[in-house]
Amino acid sequence: MAEKSKVLIIGGTGYLGKFIVEASAKEGHPTFVFVRESTVSDPVKGKLVDNFKNLGVHLLLGDMYDHESLVKAIKQVDVVISVVGQMQLADQVKIIAAIKEAGNVKVGVSSL
Ligand SMILES: NC(=O)c1ccc[n+]([C@@H]2O[C@H](COP(=O)([O-])OP(=O)(O)OC[C@H]3O[C@@H](n4cnc5c(N)ncnc54)[C@H](OP(=O)(O)O)[C@@H]3O)[C@@H](O)[C@H]2O)c1
Repeated sequence: MAEKSKVLIIGGTGYLGKFIVEASAKEGHPTFVFVRESTVSDPVKGKLVDNFKNLGVHLLLGDMYDHESLVKAIKQVDVVISVVGQMQLADQVKIIAAIKEAGNVKVGVSSL
């Protein structure tokens, strides 16, 4: 059987993103979620992150405004899905720049 693509979700703790993280993990993809440290320690979102961990999802800490953290995360996967919030839509160019630098991604998808 073909190996499943490794999927990174940026914005996975958001309203839409959480469903994508869950679906990816349940489809058997090695699933990675790019999260800010402050989100992991948030009382509400932390519970969501714990749920991800129970599904076998790997957490990669970083911030989309921290280029190095983005590149490091992206280097570990085949597919990048961005579901960042409306305020960050234009800044998705930062994700594209990191994908170009990482040089390994086969597919990139954005919610817009
Ligand atoms: N919600 C809807 O009904 C709906 C419908 C159609 C289309 N859309 C589109 O879908 C996209 C996502 O919408 P949403 O409602 O799911 O957004 P959301 O709930 O605001 O989630 C945004 C996600 O982006 C993350 N994020 C924000 N700043 C970040 C940063 N600097 N570094 C890393 N991650 C960051 C947030 O992390 P934290 O958890 O740490 O805040 C969160 O996971 C948007 O483009 C929206 O226009 C939404």
